[in-house]
Amino acid sequence: MSVGVVRETAEGERRVALVPKVVATLVGKGVPVTVESGAGVEALIPDDAYVEAGATIGDPYAADVVLRVSPPSDAEIARLRRGQKLIGFLAPRNADTKIGALKDAGVEAYAVEAIPRISRAQVMDALSSQANVSGYKSVIVAADKSTRFFPMLTTAAGTVKPATVLVLGVGVAGLQALATAKRLGARTTGYDVRPEVAEQVRSVGAQWLDLGIDAAGEGGYARELTDEERAKQQQALEDAIKGFDIVITTALVPGRPAPRLVTAAAVEGMKPGSVVVDLAGETGGNCELTEPGQTVVKHDVTITSPLNLPATMPEHASELYSKNLQALIELMLDENGAIAPDFDDEVIAAACVTGSPTTNSEVKA
Ligand code: NAI
Repeated sequence: MSVGVVRETAEGERRVALVPKVVATLVGKGVPVTVESGAGVEALIPDDAYVEAGATIGDPYAADVVLRVSPPSDAEIARLRRGQKLIGFLAPRNADTKIGALKDAGVEAYAVEAIPRISRAQVMDALSSQANVSGYKSVIVAADKSTRFFPMLTTAAGTVKPATVLVLGVGVAGLQALATAKRLGARTTGYDVRPEVAEQVRSVGAQWLDLGIDAAGEGGYARELTDEERAKQQQALEDAIKGFDIVITTALVPGRPAPRLVTAAAVEGMKPGSVVVDLAGETGGNCELTEPGQTVVKHDVTITSPLNLPATMPEHASELYSKNLQALIELMLDENGAIAPDFDDEVIAAACVTGSPTTNSEVKA
């Protein structure tokens, strides 16, 4: 069984699927790794570092298992062969998903987004590892756009009060944002529609904003709010948001457009110089005034919605992602080191978004 690491082609994608340390581990386990020339260059990893780790520089599409970060383009799908395995972020729920094309090509594709959120699979949970990067970086972006300090400063020229930061949607990214903002010295508050999050919010030294809405859904995710709940939430948030210098939003409902939490009126109510960082831009944004991928100033408030923040920190983002892939590959190996995914394993069955190999060949027969 062999593994190939592609050079990413999506715009702005700087991550690489495997870093040399993980390559060395796989090679040590008898798994040959072929890396496309320049695959690590955007993450500042030269080809030589892969060679030192035991990889070969060559055609990754010749391997049994092709690893990538961002979804493949049509040209890249054309390079895959029937029965070949592909692992990466494949955006299975996006409108422009390539899953249909991968099925047609007979590829056995595993989407890391579809790995179930169970304890055993935490080490493979790429959504979480990358959400940590996004949460951290969202605070750095907010601090950069802000006209104010985050920490309290006592100087001879006077005392500056600490910034107040509100995080809306406290999943993995939100929790990391709260922890990072606290480390920078801000006064932090978190809000979510899943009441069990309150304890996690308090555990990172933040206050819990309770708006009395419980919308816990399945699998640890939130459900979509009813129209009545949404109106109540928007009104309550409009009042609350006025008191904050920084609002970071990360609220998502799987497979649905991002919930609108920050109305235009709420932005208008914020103090001039305040900042909204909207991490939900890819699914439309949590703020009514968000322009995905852009930074705009409205009512003297900066609203920024960076896309793919993990790609802006390619070194650590790739390192964490690599570890996730290593764990998934190891789960697919049998005792002889051959690739033999067990479709009775719920992690394998859920992650394989093109159906089991049997279903696949039936489809193509
Ligand atoms: P996410 O990125 O899908 O969503 C972010 C947050 O937005 C969630 O906390 C969600 O409740 C919240 N949200 C959705 N609609 C909202 C609304 N209208 N108003 C306010 N907040 C709203 O979430 P993420 O980071 O993927 O994690 C969700 C949860 O999944 C985690 O908190 C955890 O409980 C669970 N999880 C479990 C894992 C495991 O056991 N292996 C691994 C990772 C997450």
